[in-house]
Amino acid sequence: ARVVVLVSGSGTNLQALLDAIGDDPEGYGARIVAVGADRYGTVGIERAERAGLPTFVCKLGEYANRDAWDAALTTAVAEYRPDLVVSAGFMKIVGKGFLAEFGGRVVNTHPALLPSFPGAHGVRDALAYGVKVTGCTVHFVDDGVDTGPIIAQGVVEVTEEETTEGEAALHERIKEVERKLLVEAVGRLARDGYRIEGRKVHLGHVGE
Ligand code: GRF
Repeated sequence: ARVVVLVSGSGTNLQALLDAIGDDPEGYGARIVAVGADRYGTVGIERAERAGLPTFVCKLGEYANRDAWDAALTTAVAEYRPDLVVSAGFMKIVGKGFLAEFGGRVVNTHPALLPSFPGAHGVRDALAYGVKVTGCTVHFVDDGVDTGPIIAQGVVEVTEEETTEGEAALHERIKEVERKLLVEAVGRLARDGYRIEGRKVHLGHVGE
């Protein structure tokens, strides 16, 4: 499968995918064909460049409005003919045009146990709520915010000191689980195929 990855930050999820694919994309079932970002100067894009991958940046502020940005992002991604688009720490909500083109093939990873704590501050919100466990969710993107059908989830216990130490320490521990969850999920979707029925994702050879 051809995969385009979208990032906004450090790109450690992207790096985990690159490391898992290594020099055996056939074995993993997917190859990353391009990496895009919504801003300049991200470490995620640097990681892609280091891996010799094509990259692009679609910065909202460079477009007249959000629809124009969404259309530009759609065009930029479509150029690489992806089978799957993986949003790995991509901090923008894709629009109608993007979903018209790639709907059902866009995977997102979120650092909380959806449907709890959607949005840009899932780790902070879970901590503030006083949860005893949180975690991460890999899901298909639909027209909501972090509301699409769930593919996989991983649980992370919240420790006493984190309640004081705060978000960064907990987020790092979540990311350790998240990277493994994403690598596993993307590999299975790519190798085994999948079918989405309502809110349910059925993994396994399509059409069986
Ligand atoms: C991930 O935890 C992702 O779920 C969240 O931001 C983090 C991105 O990390 N939206 P990275 O850029 O992959 O290192």
